[in-house]
Amino acid sequence: MTLLEVRDLEVTYPGGAAAVRGVDLSLDAGRKLGIAGESGCGKSSLALALLRLLPAGTRITGEVLLDGEDVLTMRWGRVRAVRWAGASIVFQGAMHSLNAVHRIGDQIAEPILLHRRTTAAAARRRAGELLEQVGLPAARAAAYPHELSGGQRQRVMIAMALACDPRLVIADEPTTALDVMVQAQILRLIGDLVTEQDVGLIMISHDLAVLADTCDRLAVMYAGRVVEEGAARAVYENARHPYGKALSAAFPRIGDPASRFAPRGLAGDPPDPSALPSGCAFHPRCPEALELCATQDQALRDLGQERRAACVHVADADSGSAAAAEDTRSTA
Ligand SMILES: Nc1ncnc2c1ncn2[C@@H]1O[C@H](COP(=O)(O)OP(=O)(O)OP(=O)(O)O)[C@@H](O)[C@H]1O
Ligand code: SF4
Ligand SMILES: [Mg+2]
Repeated sequence: MTLLEVRDLEVTYPGGAAAVRGVDLSLDAGRKLGIAGESGCGKSSLALALLRLLPAGTRITGEVLLDGEDVLTMRWGRVRAVRWAGASIVFQGAMHSLNAVHRIGDQIAEPILLHRRTTAAAARRRAGELLEQVGLPAARAAAYPHELSGGQRQRVMIAMALACDPRLVIADEPTTALDVMVQAQILRLIGDLVTEQDVGLIMISHDLAVLADTCDRLAVMYAGRVVEEGAARAVYENARHPYGKALSAAFPRIGDPASRFAPRGLAGDPPDPSALPSGCAFHPRCPEALELCATQDQALRDLGQERRAACVHVADADSGSAAAAEDTRSTA
C-alpha cells in the first residue's frame, strides 16, 4: 500500500488566503519526495495540513491517507497518536525552537515517554542512541541548546523527528539556515536514515538544486498548486512547465558559461493567495503565456514516464496534442 496518498487537498486560511489548491501527491516507504517553489507558494501550509497542525478556523478539505487512514477525518486522540509515531515534522527554523532551559536529551526523550510505554531511563537511553544515529556523541544529551552549533541543533531536531520510529518524515527547509558544508552533511544524513529505516521523506525547499540531489521525485508548486512533477533529475534538468524552467534556470550550473555571465531569474512577485489572477495563476509572469492563459486554468496533464505538468504548451501523453496547438488554430 502507498504510504502517503494526498488527494485534492485544499487549505484556506481564515482571512481567505487559498494557500493550497487541489494538490494530489503520493509517496511510497523508503522514497524521497521534494517539494519546491518560491516563498509563499504554500509549501509549509501543505506540510502542516498533512498532520492537521494549521491554526483554528483554517478550512482543510480533501484526503490525506497515511497507510490508508485519512488524517483529516481522524478523531483528535488518533491524530495525537499519529503525530510523532506515524509521521513527524522537522519544522522550518526548528533549530531555534528547542527549549532553552531543558537538556536536549530530556527534550528528545519527551515524545518517547508520551508515545511509548517505557521508563524514563529507557527513554533517556534511546535519546542517547538517537543522538549517535545523527552523528552526535550520546554524552551530548546533557547539553543545553545554547551549547550546540546550529548544525548540531538541527541534528537534534532530526533525532527528535525519528524518536518514535515514524513511517513518514516531513522536513520543512531543514538546511536553509546552515552553511553549505553542514547543509551537505545534514542532507546526506537524512537521505541515509530514510533508506536505512525504510521511512518515506517529504523534503521541502525553495532550492531546486538541493532537492534534485537528495530526492527521487520532485513536485514544483506555484500559487498553491503542483504545476510540475516527475523524477527529480528530469524535472531539474529538463523542466516542462515555464515556472519549473524559470526556477531551474535560477540555479547556475558549474561549467555552464551562459549561467555564469547571465544568471537568470524571474521578474515579478508570486501572487497574493487571497486575490489570485484569473486563468493560469502564473500568466502575469509567464514568458510563454498565450492569450487564452488569462482566462483558462490548466489541470495537471500526464506526460508519460511518470511526469505531469499543468501548462497549455505540454501535450497529454494520451491525446498526444497540446492545447496550445488548438489555441493557435482558434486565434488564427
Ligand atoms: N496563519 C496564516 N494565516 C493566514 N495566511 C497565512 C498563514 N500562514 C501562511 N499564510 C499565507 O499562505 C501562503 C502560503 O504560506 P506558506 O507558509 O505555506 O508558504 P511557503 O511556501 O512555506 O513559504 P516559505 O518558502 O517562505 O516558507 C502565504 O501567502 C502566506 O502569507
Ligand atoms: S498555461 Fe500559459 S501562463 Fe500558464 S504556464 Fe503555461 S504558457 Fe504560462
Ligand atoms: Mg515555509
